[in-house]
Amino acid sequence: MRAHSLRRASSLAAGVMVVAASVWAEPGQAVDDAAMLRQGQTLLRRDCGGCHAVERRGESPRAGAPAFRDLSRRYDVDSLGEALAEGLMTGHPEMPEFRFRPDEVDAILGYLRSIQTPPRR
Ligand code: HEC
Repeated sequence: MRAHSLRRASSLAAGVMVVAASVWAEPGQAVDDAAMLRQGQTLLRRDCGGCHAVERRGESPRAGAPAFRDLSRRYDVDSLGEALAEGLMTGHPEMPEFRFRPDEVDAILGYLRSIQTPPRR
């Protein structure tokens, strides 16, 4: 009995992982999972919000730090993923070094895509 229910639990977990993996496998697609967007927003508020405007409105607290909703005017937002994972930020002298886990990078990119103005084509 016990073994049986354990097996069911693990195949359920495997199913969840497959779903998650298929979301992550398509970086070009908008991540519409609300929980993931919230995670991205929370991380950015915590680590970046002291200097950058993280929300759709509002000015950056630090003069010269671009509002995140405007990043796509100058950058391909997707290309930031590598920098976030490796802890590199070129041209970012005043910024402390950050390094994010792959799932955090996905959440951050999903959130950033969701707030860009004008919307990413
Ligand atoms: C201590 C203040 C500070 C923090 C914290 C901070 N930034 Fe910045 N960031 C800046 C400033 C100032 C600039 C503009 C610097 C420049 O253009 O050289 C900038 C520029 C950027 C740019 C534009 C790229 C570039 O190199 O000009 C990106 C992208 C960026 N920040 C992402 C982030 C992310 C993501 C976080 C949180 C993980 C973060 N920043 C945290 C101050 C900060």
